[in-house]
This record gives sequence, C-alpha cells and structure tokens, in this order.
Amino acid sequence: MSWLPAVLLLLLLLVALGWLLHWLLIRTEGIFLGRRIVVWLYDLAAGRYDALKQFDPDTESAFVTWPLLRRLRSETGFLGRNSVSNALVLDVATGTGRLPFFLLNEPGFDGRVVGLDASAGMLAQARAKLAPFGQRAALVRQSAQALPFADAAFAAVTCLEALEFLPDDAAALGEMARVLRPGGVLLVTRRQGPEAPYFLGRCRDRDSFEALLTGLGLIDVRSQPWQVEYELVWAKRESTDFTDDTDR
Ligand SMILES: C[S@@+](CC[C@H](N)C(=O)[O-])C[C@H]1O[C@@H](n2cnc3c(N)ncnc32)[C@H](O)[C@@H]1O
Repeated sequence: MSWLPAVLLLLLLLVALGWLLHWLLIRTEGIFLGRRIVVWLYDLAAGRYDALKQFDPDTESAFVTWPLLRRLRSETGFLGRNSVSNALVLDVATGTGRLPFFLLNEPGFDGRVVGLDASAGMLAQARAKLAPFGQRAALVRQSAQALPFADAAFAAVTCLEALEFLPDDAAALGEMARVLRPGGVLLVTRRQGPEAPYFLGRCRDRDSFEALLTGLGLIDVRSQPWQVEYELVWAKRESTDFTDDTDR
C-alpha cells in the first residue's frame, strides 16, 4: 500500500489539470491564452453557435434592434417618419451576424450594416445568413482592437456579448467611439452574473464601465437590464451642433 499516496497525488493533479483546462478553454473561452486561441475556439464552435444560442426574433427586436432604430431616428437625424434611411451601422465582433440579421429584418430600417469579426468560421456563418440582403450587409475579418474605418463613419456602433473576450476593452471602446459620428448611438454589453468572477478582472462593474464610456467623451450613458449574464449599455457621441460666428 506504499503506492497509495502517490496514486492519490496523481489523481489530485489530474483533477486540478482538468479543472484548469476547463476554466481556460470552456469557461473563459481562451481569453487568458491570447487572442489567437479565442478566435480558434470560435472557429471551432461557429457551426454550432446559433443552435446553442437560439436567438428569439421577438426578443431581439424588443430589446435590441427596435430600441436601436428608435434612437437612430430621434438622435442622429435619420428622421424618416416610419423608416431610418441610409444609416450605416457597424457591429463589432458580429459573430454569426446576429445583430445585422435582426436589424436588416426590421421593416423600419433601410440602411446598411457592416459586421466585423476576427473569426473566419463565424463570418462564414454570417455570410450565408446575410446573403439575402445583398449589398446592404458587408463583412470584414479584422481584430476589434484597431478598426479599419475613418473617424465618424457610422451612425451607430454595436458590440454584443464580446467585450470581455477582447484583449483590451478600453482600447476597443475607444476605437468604437472614434468611428461613431457626432450624435451617433453606441450599444454595447457589460458582462455580469455568476460567471463573471471566472473572468478575473476582465468584467467591469457598472460604475467602472459607465465611467470608462464617459471618459471616452460619450454622453447619456445608460445601463439597462437584459439577461442574467449581460446588461445592455447605451451611450451617444456628443453632437457638434454649434453656431459658427464667422458665417454671419
Ligand atoms: C460571444 S460571440 C458574440 C457574437 C455576436 N456579437 C453575438 O452577440 O452573437 C464573441 C465574438 O467575438 C469575436 N472575437 C473575439 N475576439 C475578437 C477580436 N479580438 N476581434 C474581433 N472579434 C473577436 C469572436 O470571434 C466571436 O464571434
């Protein structure tokens, strides 16, 4: 029986290793192993993503796309009575194209949506789903840390269920604010709930998150309950409406 302590120790080590791998690869989806691993895991899961998430069209419309349309209408000057014309929307970390798909299906939206993601697998799913919308949907494979777009290019920028997977959420949000036009709408999510502590400092509390957005020059920052795991956070880039005396 002299081998018993060694076997028990080995078992303990195996359990600890299994738990560590589960935490690194499943629970926190590779975020502590670097961006490439995160993207590789999403490439692997892409074909199952929509089946796992089971997005409900009515819920997406009620909480996400319809409120986004309402804000676009009232705050960015896309003032069609019943429609939002020509608005260009950017969805960062678009995944399988969830937000572009539901937004383009809104009868009141006749603008265009650009979806950006670093995972080729997720974008392949998005491409198939968005094909019926033709040129109104465009997809870009790129990291969210440096957006390949001009300043003030978009009427709205969205980023759902993704900030905690990015290497630097503050830098990514700074990029989103940069490409948002004055008066434009930002919609992002803040991770919360029982899983958040596993992300070891990658999920901010509400005060710190709202302060980060305010520090980026965004105004009207509002958090809104959504799911157990996420809050929706709305903000706006200040309009630069002012009277230029030299024109008088
Ligand atoms: C949980 S999914 C969310 C997808 C989509 N927004 C949704 O709500 O269904 C997270 C997405 O972030 C993407 N992602 C992770 N790291 C990224 C990075 N550094 N740059 C761009 N996208 C990234 C992944 O490929 C994945 O599609």
